[in-house]
Amino acid sequence: MDMTELRALCGTCGKCELSKTRTNCVFGVGNEHAELMFVGEAPGEQEDLSGIPFVGRAGKLLDSYFDAVGIDRDTVYIANILKCRPPHNRDPLPAEQDACIEYLREQVRIIRPRFIVCLGRIAAMRLIKPDFKITQEHGKWFRKGDFEMSAFFHPSALLRDPRKKADMLTDMQVLAEKLNGNGEST
Ligand code: URA
Repeated sequence: MDMTELRALCGTCGKCELSKTRTNCVFGVGNEHAELMFVGEAPGEQEDLSGIPFVGRAGKLLDSYFDAVGIDRDTVYIANILKCRPPHNRDPLPAEQDACIEYLREQVRIIRPRFIVCLGRIAAMRLIKPDFKITQEHGKWFRKGDFEMSAFFHPSALLRDPRKKADMLTDMQVLAEKLNGNGEST
């Protein structure tokens, strides 16, 4: 299956209740041959309205880190664990994640990135390890099969607690070095 077919399939998905309340399925955006993929939690209001991940306040903040370290948003791929918005932005339920995760796995199979960065605890617990502790382990790199994986603070967490912003910048700088081939491999 290619990305266009997968997107179409996802757009008609009714595997969980969130499909009933979505405006748009927020499938993913960016370069289908990206070396770097970001995975967030779930669409928020602006994403649900536009169908594009990370376009609201958190997304704008994420863009500012891309600018700060010289990552071009168009060269990466951005998706979420859930493709539909949970009501009132509540945490995704395990059953919703189970219903949706195969779309993300297929996206990863198609893109075959070198680096996968989880944004926030929910994505890190799902993709890196169930007991991931974002406060202690953000910015740490893990080799998992063909991928180097890490988790950074979720931009929404930075909006709530600006003291985390310095760590986010450091984590992004290390990532940019890795992308440029200057980072130590794990
Ligand atoms: N938060 C997320 O986790 N994903 C988005 O796309 C927007 C906000």
